[in-house]
Amino acid sequence: MKNQIDESRIIRNLFGKFATGVSVVSFLDEVNKPFGITVNSFTSVSLDPPIALWCIGKKSELCESLINQENYVFNFLADHQIDLAVKLSEKNNHNLDVANCKIEEYGPTINESLGWMACSKRNVVESGDHFVIFGNVDKISSLESKRSPLIFWSGKFENLK
Ligand SMILES: Cc1cc2nc3c(=O)[nH]c(=O)nc-3n(C[C@H](O)[C@H](O)[C@H](O)COP(=O)(O)O)c2cc1C
Repeated sequence: MKNQIDESRIIRNLFGKFATGVSVVSFLDEVNKPFGITVNSFTSVSLDPPIALWCIGKKSELCESLINQENYVFNFLADHQIDLAVKLSEKNNHNLDVANCKIEEYGPTINESLGWMACSKRNVVESGDHFVIFGNVDKISSLESKRSPLIFWSGKFENLK
Protein backbone atom coordinates (compact mmCIF):
# COMPACT_ATOMS: atom_id res chain seq x y z
CA MET A 1 0.00 0.00 0.00
CA LYS A 2 2.77 2.44 1.02
CA ASN A 3 4.64 1.69 -2.21
CA GLN A 4 1.52 2.43 -4.24
CA ILE A 5 1.06 5.79 -2.51
CA ASP A 6 4.74 6.68 -2.98
CA GLU A 7 4.58 5.69 -6.63
CA SER A 8 1.49 7.76 -7.40
CA ARG A 9 3.09 10.76 -5.67
CA ILE A 10 6.23 10.32 -7.79
CA ILE A 11 4.18 10.03 -10.99
CA ARG A 12 2.08 13.08 -10.05
CA ASN A 13 5.25 15.09 -9.35
CA LEU A 14 6.78 14.06 -12.65
CA PHE A 15 3.58 14.84 -14.60
CA GLY A 16 3.78 18.29 -12.96
CA LYS A 17 7.29 18.85 -14.33
CA PHE A 18 5.76 19.24 -17.76
CA ALA A 19 5.04 22.97 -17.96
CA THR A 20 1.69 23.87 -19.50
CA GLY A 21 -0.48 26.86 -20.22
CA VAL A 22 -3.70 27.29 -18.26
CA SER A 23 -7.15 27.45 -19.72
CA VAL A 24 -10.69 27.70 -18.44
CA VAL A 25 -13.31 25.48 -20.01
CA SER A 26 -16.49 27.56 -19.83
CA PHE A 27 -20.03 26.57 -20.62
CA LEU A 28 -23.68 27.49 -20.05
CA ASP A 29 -25.82 25.22 -17.93
CA GLU A 30 -29.39 24.27 -18.82
CA VAL A 31 -30.71 27.64 -17.57
CA ASN A 32 -27.92 29.55 -19.38
CA LYS A 33 -25.86 30.34 -16.28
CA PRO A 34 -22.13 30.59 -17.07
CA PHE A 35 -19.69 28.16 -15.40
CA GLY A 36 -15.99 27.42 -15.77
CA ILE A 37 -13.29 25.02 -14.62
CA THR A 38 -9.53 25.59 -14.66
CA VAL A 39 -7.70 22.97 -16.73
CA ASN A 40 -4.21 22.37 -18.05
CA SER A 41 -4.98 19.23 -20.06
CA PHE A 42 -5.86 21.13 -23.25
CA THR A 43 -4.15 19.53 -26.27
CA SER A 44 -4.46 20.36 -29.93
CA VAL A 45 -5.13 17.15 -31.86
CA SER A 46 -5.87 17.80 -35.54
CA LEU A 47 -5.79 20.73 -37.96
CA ASP A 48 -7.87 19.20 -40.73
CA PRO A 49 -10.49 18.99 -39.38
CA PRO A 50 -9.62 21.10 -36.32
CA ILE A 51 -9.96 18.99 -33.16
CA ALA A 52 -8.86 19.62 -29.57
CA LEU A 53 -9.03 17.48 -26.44
CA TRP A 54 -8.93 17.83 -22.69
CA CYS A 55 -9.46 15.54 -19.70
CA ILE A 56 -11.94 15.78 -16.84
CA GLY A 57 -11.45 13.90 -13.57
CA LYS A 58 -14.24 11.44 -12.75
CA LYS A 59 -14.46 12.91 -9.24
CA SER A 60 -15.11 16.45 -10.47
CA GLU A 61 -18.52 17.83 -9.52
CA LEU A 62 -18.76 19.04 -13.14
CA CYS A 63 -17.84 15.71 -14.74
CA GLU A 64 -21.36 14.52 -15.52
CA SER A 65 -22.35 17.89 -17.04
CA LEU A 66 -19.17 18.24 -19.06
CA ILE A 67 -19.08 14.81 -20.65
CA ASN A 68 -22.60 15.53 -21.94
CA GLN A 69 -22.04 19.19 -22.84
CA GLU A 70 -22.74 19.95 -26.54
CA ASN A 71 -20.84 23.28 -26.63
CA TYR A 72 -18.04 24.73 -24.53
CA VAL A 73 -15.19 27.19 -24.86
CA PHE A 74 -11.45 26.97 -24.07
CA ASN A 75 -10.23 30.34 -22.79
CA PHE A 76 -6.43 30.60 -22.75
CA LEU A 77 -5.49 32.60 -19.67
CA ALA A 78 -3.00 35.47 -19.51
CA ASP A 79 -0.63 35.83 -16.55
CA HIS A 80 -2.73 38.50 -14.80
CA GLN A 81 -5.67 36.04 -14.55
CA ILE A 82 -4.22 33.91 -11.75
CA ASP A 83 -7.03 34.79 -9.30
CA LEU A 84 -9.63 33.56 -11.77
CA ALA A 85 -7.64 30.35 -12.35
CA VAL A 86 -7.51 29.71 -8.59
CA LYS A 87 -11.21 30.51 -8.07
CA LEU A 88 -12.35 28.21 -10.87
CA SER A 89 -10.29 25.35 -9.45
CA GLU A 90 -12.14 25.47 -6.12
CA LYS A 91 -14.96 23.11 -5.24
CA ASN A 92 -18.45 24.66 -5.45
CA ASN A 93 -16.97 27.83 -6.91
CA HIS A 94 -17.30 27.28 -10.66
CA ASN A 95 -19.77 30.10 -11.35
CA LEU A 96 -18.45 32.72 -13.79
CA ASP A 97 -19.10 36.37 -13.03
CA VAL A 98 -21.06 37.78 -16.00
CA ALA A 99 -19.06 41.00 -15.63
CA ASN A 100 -15.91 39.03 -16.59
CA CYS A 101 -17.28 37.35 -19.68
CA LYS A 102 -19.35 37.74 -22.83
CA ILE A 103 -22.11 35.29 -23.50
CA GLU A 104 -21.66 34.09 -27.09
CA GLU A 105 -23.89 31.60 -28.87
CA TYR A 106 -21.28 28.86 -28.15
CA GLY A 107 -20.85 29.70 -24.48
CA PRO A 108 -19.15 32.30 -22.26
CA THR A 109 -15.86 33.85 -23.41
CA ILE A 110 -13.63 35.35 -20.74
CA ASN A 111 -12.53 38.98 -21.11
CA GLU A 112 -8.79 39.75 -21.28
CA SER A 113 -7.76 36.16 -22.01
CA LEU A 114 -5.22 35.47 -24.79
CA GLY A 115 -7.89 33.97 -26.99
CA TRP A 116 -10.69 31.45 -27.05
CA MET A 117 -11.77 28.40 -28.99
CA ALA A 118 -15.40 27.30 -29.16
CA CYS A 119 -15.92 23.55 -29.47
CA SER A 120 -18.80 21.16 -29.98
CA LYS A 121 -19.02 17.61 -28.73
CA ARG A 122 -17.17 15.04 -30.85
CA ASN A 123 -16.51 12.01 -28.65
CA VAL A 124 -15.62 11.03 -25.12
CA VAL A 125 -13.25 8.23 -24.14
CA GLU A 126 -13.09 6.79 -20.63
CA SER A 127 -9.51 6.38 -19.48
CA GLY A 128 -8.51 5.47 -15.91
CA ASP A 129 -9.73 8.08 -13.43
CA HIS A 130 -10.49 10.63 -16.20
CA PHE A 131 -12.61 11.01 -19.31
CA VAL A 132 -10.88 12.34 -22.43
CA ILE A 133 -13.19 14.81 -24.18
CA PHE A 134 -12.60 15.46 -27.89
CA GLY A 135 -14.17 18.55 -29.41
CA ASN A 136 -14.67 19.91 -32.93
CA VAL A 137 -13.25 23.43 -33.07
CA ASP A 138 -16.09 25.58 -34.46
CA LYS A 139 -14.88 29.12 -33.88
CA ILE A 140 -11.72 30.81 -32.63
CA SER A 141 -10.68 34.29 -31.62
CA SER A 142 -7.34 35.78 -30.59
CA LEU A 143 -7.79 38.59 -28.11
CA GLU A 144 -4.73 39.83 -26.21
CA SER A 145 -1.63 39.29 -28.32
CA LYS A 146 0.52 41.59 -26.14
CA ARG A 147 -0.03 39.71 -22.91
CA SER A 148 1.97 36.69 -21.72
CA PRO A 149 0.43 33.32 -20.89
CA LEU A 150 -0.24 32.01 -17.42
CA ILE A 151 1.96 28.93 -16.88
CA PHE A 152 1.47 25.97 -14.53
CA TRP A 153 4.60 24.11 -13.50
CA SER A 154 5.44 21.85 -10.60
CA GLY A 155 2.15 22.59 -8.83
CA LYS A 156 2.55 26.37 -9.04
CA PHE A 157 1.41 29.21 -11.27
CA GLU A 158 4.29 30.95 -13.05
CA ASN A 159 4.81 33.46 -15.79
CA LEU A 160 7.38 33.73 -18.56
CA LYS A 161 9.32 36.62 -17.00
C1 LIG B 1 -3.67 24.60 -13.05
C2 LIG B 1 -4.75 23.58 -12.85
C3 LIG B 1 -5.05 22.71 -13.88
C4 LIG B 1 -6.06 21.77 -13.74
N1 LIG B 1 -6.34 20.93 -14.79
C5 LIG B 1 -7.36 20.05 -14.68
C6 LIG B 1 -7.72 19.23 -15.79
O1 LIG B 1 -7.14 19.30 -16.87
N2 LIG B 1 -8.76 18.39 -15.63
C7 LIG B 1 -9.45 18.29 -14.44
O2 LIG B 1 -10.39 17.50 -14.36
N3 LIG B 1 -9.14 19.06 -13.38
C8 LIG B 1 -8.12 19.94 -13.49
N4 LIG B 1 -7.80 20.75 -12.43
C9 LIG B 1 -8.61 20.64 -11.22
C10 LIG B 1 -9.90 21.42 -11.37
O3 LIG B 1 -9.68 22.77 -11.74
C11 LIG B 1 -10.64 21.45 -10.04
O4 LIG B 1 -9.77 21.93 -9.05
C12 LIG B 1 -11.09 20.14 -9.55
O5 LIG B 1 -11.84 19.55 -10.56
C13 LIG B 1 -11.88 20.41 -8.25
O6 LIG B 1 -12.92 19.59 -8.10
P1 LIG B 1 -14.39 19.97 -8.67
O7 LIG B 1 -14.30 19.92 -10.16
O8 LIG B 1 -15.21 18.87 -8.10
O9 LIG B 1 -14.77 21.33 -8.18
C14 LIG B 1 -6.78 21.69 -12.53
C15 LIG B 1 -6.49 22.57 -11.49
C16 LIG B 1 -5.49 23.52 -11.64
C17 LIG B 1 -5.19 24.47 -10.53
